[in-house]
Amino acid sequence: MAVDGPSGSGKSSTSKGVAKALGLRYLDTGAMYRALTWWFMDQRADTTDSGAVAANAGRPRLEVSTDPDDPWTRVDGRDVSEEIRTREVSQQVSLVSRVPAVRERLIALQRGIIAGAEPGIVAEGRDIGTVVAPDAVLKVFLTADSDARARRRAAERGAEVDTTEADQARRDRLDAAQSAKADDAVLLDATDLTLDEVIQKIATLARERSALACTGDAGAR
Ligand code: DC
Repeated sequence: MAVDGPSGSGKSSTSKGVAKALGLRYLDTGAMYRALTWWFMDQRADTTDSGAVAANAGRPRLEVSTDPDDPWTRVDGRDVSEEIRTREVSQQVSLVSRVPAVRERLIALQRGIIAGAEPGIVAEGRDIGTVVAPDAVLKVFLTADSDARARRRAAERGAEVDTTEADQARRDRLDAAQSAKADDAVLLDATDLTLDEVIQKIATLARERSALACTGDAGAR
């Protein structure tokens, strides 16, 4: 299942919740872009130098857990689950994620993880429904008003709403090329819904889709 949408739309909490409700694995693809960005920053590399980023994108070993109850991220064996959430990483991740060699490597890794996931997986990101897994049984594009997204993110991080909203608007602009709603994705606006309501809506859609798929209805895909 693919869950795409802008930062702060509640994708992570929603995707983890849906995975737990349905007994599926969970993949946070944004964490992989963040992990690679953290590695470049740890190397004191210039992330604006896209040639150098492309040349070194394959160097660190990246590992992610697909357990929705314990979704860690490791770079060369080191757990960086906390470090990849800092404002500094958030401000540089778009520079790294726009580099084609980076996307090529991470998309290949993501496809491998998705293919090997039993009994299925909820993958969240920006391009899951359009590029990484265009055959997903269910695609959701989760959105919310920019104000609601900033309030949610600021509360999570203990940060100022205004600064968060400005950071978010900048990142949305930089990420726009990678973030498109698939034509067959269900658009879900979470502005006026609780997290639990969003999870329930998606879990219900997923159950309907897989029931239809089991009856051999090709239209279910
Ligand atoms: O979802 P997030 O905020 O953790 O994502 C971090 C960054 O990674 C985001 O700025 C865009 C990028 N990203 C991407 O380009 N493609 C994805 N599938 C997931 C994230």
